[in-house]
Amino acid sequence: MTRFLFDNVNLACVDGAAGYGLREAAALLVEDGHIAWLGARADCPVEQGVERQDFGGRLLTPGLIDCHTHLVYAGDRASEFEQRLEGASYTEIAAAGGGILSTVTATRAASEAELLAAAQQRLRALLADGVTTLEIKSGYGLDVDSELKMLRVARRLGEDFDVRVTTTFLGAHALPPEYEGRADDYIDLVCEQMLPRAQAEGLVDAVDVFIESIAFSREQGERVLAAAQALGLPIKAHAEQLSDLGGAVMAAGRGALSVDHLEYLEAGDCGTLAAGGSVAVLLPGAFYVLGETQLPPVDALREHGVPIALATDANPGSSPIHSLQLIMNMACTLFRLTPAEALRGVTINAARALGLETETGSLEVGKQADLVVWDVTEPAMLSYRVGVNPRLAVMQGGEWRRS
Ligand code: NIG
Ligand code: FE
Repeated sequence: MTRFLFDNVNLACVDGAAGYGLREAAALLVEDGHIAWLGARADCPVEQGVERQDFGGRLLTPGLIDCHTHLVYAGDRASEFEQRLEGASYTEIAAAGGGILSTVTATRAASEAELLAAAQQRLRALLADGVTTLEIKSGYGLDVDSELKMLRVARRLGEDFDVRVTTTFLGAHALPPEYEGRADDYIDLVCEQMLPRAQAEGLVDAVDVFIESIAFSREQGERVLAAAQALGLPIKAHAEQLSDLGGAVMAAGRGALSVDHLEYLEAGDCGTLAAGGSVAVLLPGAFYVLGETQLPPVDALREHGVPIALATDANPGSSPIHSLQLIMNMACTLFRLTPAEALRGVTINAARALGLETETGSLEVGKQADLVVWDVTEPAMLSYRVGVNPRLAVMQGGEWRRS
């Protein structure tokens, strides 16, 4: 299809500095995979004969973007869910060799085909929710071959499905048991072997680190990010999830695309995020699942104009959640974001968190036609309801989605 006109739609363009960028009784023309025109129906320049559909005033938004997932892994951690409900904490389970490391054991043992099959089911759930772009991290391999295996599976998902996948190398996610007591040696392995190999094989779009008491120190994290930048790769950090180790300030100071989690970020540090141009990626699913009570400094992020993105953090431990619509609702109910902030968090600001904001994430002429038609008319409906999926149709790069 080279041209298609979405006629009689309510557009949530998310194109300005704030709000929905709502245009009611509008039309939007797709040409050669991109948005070629949008505006009031009455001004539509399109001649008769162009393929078109009248959507009866339904809502059209950019395709949703899940900018932080750990979608590729083997096994599950349902038993840890049970242990936590019997009183053990996430940190205690990790310290006893469970947590991330139990998923590492299962992921190392799994074949590429097994990892692919397991991830496909989870990806289908995200696609059903209206996701057109997602990020997938490595970090459950923690040795050269297993990290490369995870990243290859992530790339393969992007080839097999109608979705744009970006890959993030997270070799510094946890200390593997064979490096017990030798964290700096493991960081050497990450910087000198894993990352250069993954990069040489074209498997890395960005590099992430987990800076936390159960993972790596700020200094160790900074070594990994410096190595990534030496290779010309964009950087990110999991930071201030369970305590304040200064990881977000360090990563933002190096110009990170995003800093993620942030419950323990000091309000006074939000200016550093703004200065670094980093997006704050909030992950209310992990907050919810772990029963956390410390809230991220949302007011201070707003005051400093830090763009806020939202993501599922889909993973087997802290966030076995595969619905970005549910995350929008949680961001509103748990973190007090407005529905407009929630929509921006899974569209334009999520695109920024992946460095894709010139290509996708808003309805603007020239951007890729990654679009969702919803069977609602008002954008607040997307954050307000739980358990009803109003996704009607998805267009990915100008083509109706097949899978
Ligand atoms: O984003 N915080 C670190 N990593 C993941 C959790 C991974 C896991 O528990 O398996 C997260 O929450
Ligand atoms: Fe994560």
